[in-house]
Amino acid sequence: MSEKAKLILEGKEYELPVVIGTENEKAIDISKLLETTGYITLDTGFKNTGSTKSAITFLDGDNGILWYRGYPIEQLSEYASFLEVAYLVIYGELPTQKELDYFQRSISHHTLVHEDMKRFYEAYPTGAHPMGVLSSMIASMSTFYPGSQNPNRPFKDIELTMHRLIAKMATLAAQANKVSIGHPIMYPKNSYSYTQNFLHMMFALPTADYEIDPVVDDALNKLLILHADHEQNCSTSTVRIVGSSQSNLYSSISAGIAALWGPLHGGANQAVIEMLERIKNDGGDVQKWVDKAKDKNDSFRLMGFGHRVYKNFDPRAKIIKKACDDVLNRLGIHDPVLDIAKQLEEVALKDPYFIERKLYPNVDFYSGIIYRAIGIPTEMFTVMFALGRLPGWIAQWKEMIEHGEPIGRPRQVYTGSTKRDYVPIPKRG
Ligand code: ACO
Repeated sequence: MSEKAKLILEGKEYELPVVIGTENEKAIDISKLLETTGYITLDTGFKNTGSTKSAITFLDGDNGILWYRGYPIEQLSEYASFLEVAYLVIYGELPTQKELDYFQRSISHHTLVHEDMKRFYEAYPTGAHPMGVLSSMIASMSTFYPGSQNPNRPFKDIELTMHRLIAKMATLAAQANKVSIGHPIMYPKNSYSYTQNFLHMMFALPTADYEIDPVVDDALNKLLILHADHEQNCSTSTVRIVGSSQSNLYSSISAGIAALWGPLHGGANQAVIEMLERIKNDGGDVQKWVDKAKDKNDSFRLMGFGHRVYKNFDPRAKIIKKACDDVLNRLGIHDPVLDIAKQLEEVALKDPYFIERKLYPNVDFYSGIIYRAIGIPTEMFTVMFALGRLPGWIAQWKEMIEHGEPIGRPRQVYTGSTKRDYVPIPKRG
């Protein structure tokens, strides 16, 4: 017999269906609540609200578990390539060799960006944040491919848009960086893998090749895989909600990039490094900053600590921490900012404030240190996150369209003034 939840309201009893996921995740289906009871539910920040049924990512925050399509991220980040994982997340299964070859060929084929788009870069002011640039460049892509604007076209057309996005986002991201530092844009090299090509476009110059270190390439591959999806987070929910109005995929992804930018979400990786530098420049008194983070009258928070769903540890952070050590050892980097990070972690993890609130270092605590060691400018860190998250955004948008989900439109409890009559200015006092 299927479970039901009982709700008593104004003395009347209602039965609500219970939905159980494949990993025994339980939900009360309140979709008919308003029409049967006249009540809505209130849940600011959606802390307790399931917005969809999804088969892409499973996450168990209490036990630090993260799977894409059933495969643990520990295995995927150890053995797979980013494009293989992108295929898995989007299409639902690991690719055969033939499928992977087709996917890789298609992505390589689409890496060039329309030459007219280069002119946009001339219009951005010096120092423009690359997340703002990337978000608008991706939105602009819809104007170059007007055929992509209807999300209900045959799958082959939609697939072309998906492949174009994966291919061109890497090129656009690297170009945004080159423009911001006043270097000439490097064109993609299609004989390279996805990550090698990105490193080439970021760091090579017309006058000098960039020698790709396999440890750096591997760390980048891991970082992108670990960011590939994270179920209904802020940016993914944004992508789904924008797409639910039947807006095209480019606009939906552009909105996702904007949502990711904030320091409470993807922007945390930039904020972590800025915070560590601030602590170092202030004399390196880690305890002082931990105390500031605990002080309720101080708005300062330890960036890279805490997570909405992981309450014991972030499984991505564990993998990244190891990759971080590998990269720093390989490149022989001694970074004083890393010393501050290690001290901060040690002090915070022993502090009752952090223990009681289950605040652990999240993925962004370490990712910035790797990016910095590789030579990626701080303002590009969140762009790196966006590059990794793109397959997840695409997969979630695709799932939402395939499920024919209705337009996303939350309700509210109105707390403003009751009805009152307009008063002309002279009489307002
Ligand atoms: N430093 C100090 N205190 C913190 C921190 C922190 N980083 N994070 C949470 N807290 C405290 C809060 O003040 C609150 O304390 P209280 O119960 O005494 O009021 C308690 O811990 C719970 O915090 P909430 O903000 O309610 O938790 P929520 O789930 O809403 O927020 C979030 C999660 C946004 C990630 C938060 O922990 C945070 O701001 N962290 C720093 C930013 C960060 O690293 N973001 C990256 C997240 S990972 C990602 O997006 C990829």
